[in-house]
Amino acid sequence: MSEHDRGPSDPPPGRPAVRGRAHGNSPGPGGSTRLDSYVDRYAARTQGMTASEIRALFSVASRPEVVSLAGGMPNISGLPLDVVGDAIADLVSTRGTVAMQYGSGQGDPHLRDQICDVMRLEGIEAHPDDVVVTVGSQQAVDLVTRIFCDPGDVVICEAPSYVGALGVFKAYECDVVHVEMDEHGLVPSALREAIATVQAAGRRIKFVYTIPNYHNPAGVTLSSERRPEILKICRDADVLVLEDNPYGLLGFDEEPYRALRADEADGVIYLGSFSKTFAPGFRVGWALAPHAVREKLVLAQESATLCPPSFSQLAVSAYLEKHDWLGQVKQFREMYRERRDAMVGALSDMMPAAAHWNVPTGGFYVWLTLPPGLDAKAMLPRAVTARVAFVPGTAFFADGFGSQSMRLSYCYPTPERIREGVRRLVGVIEEELELRATFGTGLGEAATLELNRGYDGPTSDLT
Ligand SMILES: Cc1ncc(COP(=O)(O)O)c(C=O)c1O
Repeated sequence: MSEHDRGPSDPPPGRPAVRGRAHGNSPGPGGSTRLDSYVDRYAARTQGMTASEIRALFSVASRPEVVSLAGGMPNISGLPLDVVGDAIADLVSTRGTVAMQYGSGQGDPHLRDQICDVMRLEGIEAHPDDVVVTVGSQQAVDLVTRIFCDPGDVVICEAPSYVGALGVFKAYECDVVHVEMDEHGLVPSALREAIATVQAAGRRIKFVYTIPNYHNPAGVTLSSERRPEILKICRDADVLVLEDNPYGLLGFDEEPYRALRADEADGVIYLGSFSKTFAPGFRVGWALAPHAVREKLVLAQESATLCPPSFSQLAVSAYLEKHDWLGQVKQFREMYRERRDAMVGALSDMMPAAAHWNVPTGGFYVWLTLPPGLDAKAMLPRAVTARVAFVPGTAFFADGFGSQSMRLSYCYPTPERIREGVRRLVGVIEEELELRATFGTGLGEAATLELNRGYDGPTSDLT
């Protein structure tokens, strides 16, 4: 987004490792130890691997008394578990020895066929040979980065961008250059300028990573008018596009947008996922890539996992075949729309006038910008004490920007809980404004919580 304010409490890039001598070789309770006796042995790239800000707060945010507007966990309570259960039982009894065996590194051929049918809904005509099944689209981001990026290579990302992708780019030691978005998505002139600046400095841009639909975390969608323009800018500059599209079928009132990949086969690598349209626990996603790239992706997949899990793939395949999965997606859309309405309604009713936010037309997220002078990250400990959680905007920038903003997820809590969560959040913001009016700046830094201690729950906080 356009606000680019560095907050006073933002961390320096790359947290320094804690050095110290070994105290025996058993880690403390919960598997963690403050002094890491292995610190001198890790590869340099592990310095880029730090816990996400969302993970750090999740152990607290997942307590039942806290309304979590933080994690992006899909709400799968509406899934027909009996249908899924029957399909899995049938799978085990009829094809169990295949389902529980190693499979192809590229993924099950029949599922790849079905994936092509799914992508057709967004205008993509693809051949199953060009699809690689991955362990969630998260692994697809990892594999694409692995085959394209050397340390120091530039990846262009929206500002803000998906925290899980930023983590991958950091782990592979890429330099992330953020490009502005507005309410119509990525701003073409800003993209053109960023590409020109990086290339003029003699640096190679490996790809533009973009989430065109129902953006995580910004909630915006790239307008139809801008899509050809973005493609043209990248084509002219000879820069690949990595189109990450897990939310494309979750628009509330509109037909699915035409994918960027639908109009550009050679310059776009497209990533899809069944995590939001079915269930994330199967961990099935995919990449659709130009043929040569697809071959490299399969080699990378084989070295990473040998093959994606056969059981999950066949279970997803059976679900797609035996169930009205699109009817289920429609139900998901209606449920998420009701929650979106609850959130934006509560924000309109209660938020102070100086805060602003967008109204998403699909997906899971609202991006909220606080009244001037407030710092979302500094405010978080007080918010958690008031039993509401959000993700501070800084989590979604590689460079420490975004401190005045936060991501609010409406996907998981009920509409009543969402409203209550917003009420608590507004209470914290009003208190913060009052404190600032009374004492000026400098609040919040002392209130550091040990939020990550003993955490061994689900990692859905990373989404
Ligand atoms: C933009 C984006 N890309 C990728 C992913 C990863 O999804 P999965 O690995 O479950 O397919 C997520 C998950 O939240 C996401 O929001």
